[in-house]
Amino acid sequence: MAESPRSFIYTQHAMHDKSVRHQVDFWREQGERAHWFKRYDKVLDDSRGSEHIYKWYTGGMVNCCYDALDVHVEAGHGSRVAVYYDSPVTNTKKHYTYAQLLEQVATVAGGLRKLGVAAGDRVLIYMPVMVETMVAMLACARIGAIHSVVFGGFGAKELATRINDSQPKVILAASCGIEAQKVVAYKPLLDGGLAMATHEPHKCVILQRPQCEASLTPLDMLWEDLFSAQPVDAVPVTSNHPLYILYTSGTTGQPKGVVRDHAGQIVSGKFAMPTCYGINPGETFFGASDVGWIVGHTCMVYSPLLAGCATVMYEGKPVGTPNPGSIWRVVSETNTKALFIAPTALRVMRRDDPNGEYIKHYKPKMDQFQTLFVAGERLDPPTFDWARDLLGCAVVDNWWQTETGFPMAIICRGLDNNDIPPRAGSCGHPGVGYDLRILRDDGIEAEPGEMGRVVCKLPLPPGTLLTLWNNEKRFLSSYMSRYEGYYETGDSGFIDEERYVHIMSRTDDVINVAAHRLSTAAIEDVLVQHPAVSEGAVVGIHDDLRGQIPLGLVVLKPERASHPDQVIREIIAAVRESIGPVAFFKNCGIVERLPKTRSGKILRRTIAAIADGRERPVPPTIDDPAVLGEVERCLKEQLGYPRPRTESMYGDVRCGEEGVDREATAAVASAAA
Ligand code: COA
Ligand code: AMP
Repeated sequence: MAESPRSFIYTQHAMHDKSVRHQVDFWREQGERAHWFKRYDKVLDDSRGSEHIYKWYTGGMVNCCYDALDVHVEAGHGSRVAVYYDSPVTNTKKHYTYAQLLEQVATVAGGLRKLGVAAGDRVLIYMPVMVETMVAMLACARIGAIHSVVFGGFGAKELATRINDSQPKVILAASCGIEAQKVVAYKPLLDGGLAMATHEPHKCVILQRPQCEASLTPLDMLWEDLFSAQPVDAVPVTSNHPLYILYTSGTTGQPKGVVRDHAGQIVSGKFAMPTCYGINPGETFFGASDVGWIVGHTCMVYSPLLAGCATVMYEGKPVGTPNPGSIWRVVSETNTKALFIAPTALRVMRRDDPNGEYIKHYKPKMDQFQTLFVAGERLDPPTFDWARDLLGCAVVDNWWQTETGFPMAIICRGLDNNDIPPRAGSCGHPGVGYDLRILRDDGIEAEPGEMGRVVCKLPLPPGTLLTLWNNEKRFLSSYMSRYEGYYETGDSGFIDEERYVHIMSRTDDVINVAAHRLSTAAIEDVLVQHPAVSEGAVVGIHDDLRGQIPLGLVVLKPERASHPDQVIREIIAAVRESIGPVAFFKNCGIVERLPKTRSGKILRRTIAAIADGRERPVPPTIDDPAVLGEVERCLKEQLGYPRPRTESMYGDVRCGEEGVDREATAAVASAAA
């Protein structure tokens, strides 16, 4: 099969225009890049359009693993590097060619099949950034099993929730992950999750790592045992057969199981790598994330492989393994053309290398390097300037979500559109395939430059979420119900007169901690389970490094209020154990009462504003305004908030309690310009 051609004929505007005005033609053309075991009957099936349910390429048969590996080997590119693995924490560097990766994947797929895993069965993967994790994901795809990777920074309760919801037949886990100097034993977390879960898998396959070998239970077997099987061929599955479930935080404690399908992943992956990221077959793309997040799925595993590129798996931190030059070292050693990283990681590198001494050291060896992509949270302008000035390359912020799987706003680097310069504070122009609109609360479209809720006109392009696992009702109510005919992103922002998209904050109670998406509701659930707590609230507050961090306020039961310090210590420990260390929950204060509306709704945004030292949005429906003074005192005396900021990352734009704060729009728009 011919390799995907790079498209030179479109500007981003022309391509975007075609993708939203002539959606079916556009995605028919893109669909040509996939290998169809059986061609689809319909490009877009809108037979349930009135219910806001759309399906792409119905009637076709595909396999995402086949497109990611076999097609390249069959086309004679088996000796090309598929993946570079660099693990400074274990002192390991290795690479696998496409042929070698295919052999591993086909064998592990055979091993899974031998365990009774068949198409449609779920396999939960609890493994860190290792080539074996990628092998596990692709092996599932090969036999039509549905993988669900759980991020290693989550604790036992989060794991149990995902086990119960996805009901995996098999769990694949590593014995440990390595977080800089620290070895994190995964097996006790897995056993804890299984003890809490009501569902029990048939088997757990454990990859023993020498840094921390796990003791096995009768349910366990070893990763090596999978290799006693014969390699198997890719199984053709229907276009919309689920490829994976990736859980993400919503507004309740129950995470949402985003489902992506085989055909959508193939087409969007083959489209995004050359067009959005400007990467061609044989070139290297380095997605510095974790496999447990959507960026890991798209940028580390599927998209580079589907496009015939080399991908990089880096098991290290941006700093401290051993220094802030590690990422640039890997860039130079793997001939990386584009790096994708979270703004928090850049901020920490900037903190430890303000003058870019490490960048200067490695830059002469970064011949191929052309673009730095950032996403996951807003890139603050000072860090944008730092990176651009020191690297001397394009710095491209792009905006997307677990739900969409590829960029909703970006400056496409694979198109002839150099007339769109990246702009600090903006995540680029609307992404190809997405008809973005900004709506006021009443559903009327906002003016250019006016803040509002960011939505996308339906249907969404292929590759975006198909549904939520086992919960179509929640899929529709979470995303499609507020504005008829639109997907609601949950973000607020504006599009300026020159079409630059600015994403400013969430409209819901989801927070973004070091580019990790977390639910304040899930943390609140842990707080209120403490026997001494009668009520609790968690909000996201500003943090110079992590963007946001959670802060909790609790009201204690009068009879249990005698040892407040101990209660706070226990609450913090409980969050760490249940949600995981990644929640970074370190601040919790005690108040007499929480600020509420007369109908009993906790005024979380008001609490966050007080902690941040911003002007507090106080709704007219507040029950007793005097409580705000009490909260202010608690935050100041117990937790030391508000704290001075080293620099303004976000400006002061936030949504109002009841919707969107339009007054700040003009100030931010002119600052961004
Ligand atoms: N497995 C186990 N534990 C993990 C983990 C993982 N995969 N990821 C994080 N943790 C732990 C950390 O070890 C830390 O534990 P500690 O409280 O015992 O120190 C805690 O969770 C908080 O982690 P983090 O906020 O990541 O802090 P850090 O000091 O370890 O690292 C950064 C700081 C900036 C280097 C890191 O947050 C980072 O690289 N962020 C970018 C995230 C990213 O790439 N997201 C992808 C979305 S695009
Ligand atoms: P996740 O699903 O974990 O990728 O988180 C998606 C959310 O992260 C989005 O809805 C935004 O709130 C935020 N986000 C991601 N990328 C950006 C960006 N480039 N700028 C601003 N916010 C972003």
